Amino acid sequence: MKGEQGMQRVLSKVAIVVVAVFAVTSGCALFEDERTAKGRKLYRHYCMHCHGESGQQQEGFNWERMPDPRPRDLSEDAAMSTFSDEEIFNTISRDMRDTSLQEVIDDENYFAVSTMPTFKYTLSEEELWAVVGYVRTLHGGSLTFDVDGRKAELESQFQAVNAAHDQAKQAMDEALAKQEAEEAARAEAEEEAEEDDEDLDMEDEEDLEDYDDEEEEIVLPEEEAYEKVAEQFEAAKAALENFSKRPKMTQIARPDLTTTDEERVALQDKGKNLYFNKYGCNGCHSVGDTGGLVGPALDRAGFRLNDTWVYRWVRYPQGMKKHTRMPNLGLDDPDARAITAYLDTLRAPKPDKPIPPPE
Ligand code: HEC
Ligand code: HEC
Repeated sequence: MKGEQGMQRVLSKVAIVVVAVFAVTSGCALFEDERTAKGRKLYRHYCMHCHGESGQQQEGFNWERMPDPRPRDLSEDAAMSTFSDEEIFNTISRDMRDTSLQEVIDDENYFAVSTMPTFKYTLSEEELWAVVGYVRTLHGGSLTFDVDGRKAELESQFQAVNAAHDQAKQAMDEALAKQEAEEAARAEAEEEAEEDDEDLDMEDEEDLEDYDDEEEEIVLPEEEAYEKVAEQFEAAKAALENFSKRPKMTQIARPDLTTTDEERVALQDKGKNLYFNKYGCNGCHSVGDTGGLVGPALDRAGFRLNDTWVYRWVRYPQGMKKHTRMPNLGLDDPDARAITAYLDTLRAPKPDKPIPPPE
């Protein structure tokens, strides 16, 4: 009996050691795999149609239909390994090229291909790094960027600003309390003085009031310092939040899209330019027989879609359909108005409509 129990105890100890050793040796690898697996899933949802399942050209169903330059081979180590992890990260999370700014047009280092969408407004920073990690595996590499270190850095930045924020708030509250006490004391003294000096003439009283008004506008240095720190606090908080959470916008309100005819023509031209040259909508949507096949053809958008709906969709697709493959490209209000006006001009005849017989 005793021997059996002893044996059991030894066995369970062995089991614990085996499990512990397994957890330690595989723990790290398991974690890495999780990130790569996440990257693979995101890649298949957001990138595969253009770049192909294994990153090879002509593999993605949209590749053939893309305007030049078509997506480069992400599986080719010779070219891809010349890019740092940060460079790949910036390519997938930059702002779209603002073609209205000369300095952007002149900047040779700016990644220029408008038909490579940005995912900055769609995915969290952690997800973006997971995608970069997966892209690395397509050419036999692996991510060297320290993602956990980046998170720790954002956390410690936040902590530091948080402490400074608390301190600045305390200093401001103290200064405000002191100011209030001083004002109260002064008001009391004034009241006493007034009582003492009943025959204060009108002019003096007015002067006194003016003086009071001016004093109320004084902004304490502690208040100014607090405002600065509060801004840094919000920025650090947003950066930390955006690390693990997808960017979220408030719902886009229904816009008033009425314009004069003249304004409308100018908007349509601007919108057409933005559609092709800034946001590369043609990489995913076709008009006529050119353009991508990822999203629906937009030939008849002017008949089919309502302007208000289009405006809200292009500004925040995820707000209307959470997991849509169309990324949020970061359109601001003026750009969304222009693109909406352009789409309204797309009024191709119904393809299946029989051609009317000649009269
Ligand atoms: C609408 C098609 C399209 C989609 C979707 C797309 N890309 Fe691209 N991508 C392109 C085009 C076009 C280029 C520019 C041509 C080139 O240099 O490869 C490009 C370039 C790149 C490059 C840079 C290669 C270089 O030359 O510097 C990387 C990396 C990349 N894409 C990764 C991704 C990832 C990751 C996703 C998904 C999160 C994605 N792409 C989604 C079309 C697309
Ligand atoms: C990476 C590919 C991609 C890019 C880039 C893209 N779209 Fe889309 N778009 C889609 C997909 C996919 C859908 C279908 C949405 C769904 O149902 O999830 C869509 C839907 C739409 C629709 C609704 C069409 C309909 O018939 O219901 C409009 C309008 C639209 N996109 C306009 C645009 C405009 C304008 C741009 C450029 C600012 C753009 N898209 C850029 C992929 C893309």
